[in-house]
Amino acid sequence: MTRFSGRAVIVTGGASGIGEATAARFASEGALITVADMNEPNNLPQGALFVRTDVTDEAQVVAMVEQTVAERGKLDCIVNNAGIGAAMPTSILPLESWEKIFAVNSTGVFIGCKAAIPHLEATRGCIVNVASISGLGGDYLMSAYNASKGAVVNFTRALAMECAEMGIRVNAVCPGVIETPLAAGALDRAEDRDHWMELVPLHRAGQPGDIAGAIAFLASDDASYVTGHNLVVDGGITAHTGQPNFIRRQAVRSSSGN
Ligand SMILES: NC(=O)c1ccc[n+]([C@@H]2O[C@H](COP(=O)([O-])OP(=O)(O)OC[C@H]3O[C@@H](n4cnc5c(N)ncnc54)[C@H](O)[C@@H]3O)[C@@H](O)[C@H]2O)c1
Repeated sequence: MTRFSGRAVIVTGGASGIGEATAARFASEGALITVADMNEPNNLPQGALFVRTDVTDEAQVVAMVEQTVAERGKLDCIVNNAGIGAAMPTSILPLESWEKIFAVNSTGVFIGCKAAIPHLEATRGCIVNVASISGLGGDYLMSAYNASKGAVVNFTRALAMECAEMGIRVNAVCPGVIETPLAAGALDRAEDRDHWMELVPLHRAGQPGDIAGAIAFLASDDASYVTGHNLVVDGGITAHTGQPNFIRRQAVRSSSGN
């Protein structure tokens, strides 16, 4: 497929996990990729540009966007994906940790959008932000992360209103649990993992490619009438009311003869 043939696409946080898979997916469909990350990628797509960038630093982000436009002649899409996690009780969470999480997960998205908008207006391009299902509800011990991703969810809606006037679409994906270095700690222990996968209706962790496919859809012409949307890609976990899984419980009862 060549849905993105000749299109210039920036992926922040593209050196690892979801960002790496997204850069690879766009490149495989013909895009000219810029990976913007603090760390050098191990797997940079052929022909891609790597610009070492801290998304919390506005000057660095502006320079990275300008370099992309200088090399590619335009910008068609930015995927604001860079993010960090944190898990700690709120009562002992250092203020610096709260501020750091917001700086990367929320302010970093704002800075990326702000820098890209003037160039996207010229191409009638699009923005895809990477939020999380953690921006749609609460998790245990993750209040700062939840709040930072909630900001991305509503920023995406608000920016879509503003950018519609310029012909720029703005959407986000809300991944559930995805097998990347960021989630590794929470998935490492077999018993924790089994418990978690029991709660996911599709009974597996998502792969980075599952999210890359959703991001590519939102950036594609197939989504030309989609804007202001937060697309949940979570194996069904947020569709669940929390009621017991009667199908599995019945199966367990039958196998034990009760
Ligand atoms: N993995 C999951 O289960 C999951 C679920 C929901 C949402 N997300 C979100 O997906 C996005 C990608 O996460 P991932 O799971 O691929 O994690 P990851 O740790 O594999 O990748 C994150 C990338 O962001 C980069 N990065 C971090 N801070 C940066 C900064 N200040 N400037 C530039 N780059 C920076 C890292 O170097 C890394 O390459 C994040 O926004 C994360 O919150 C992940």
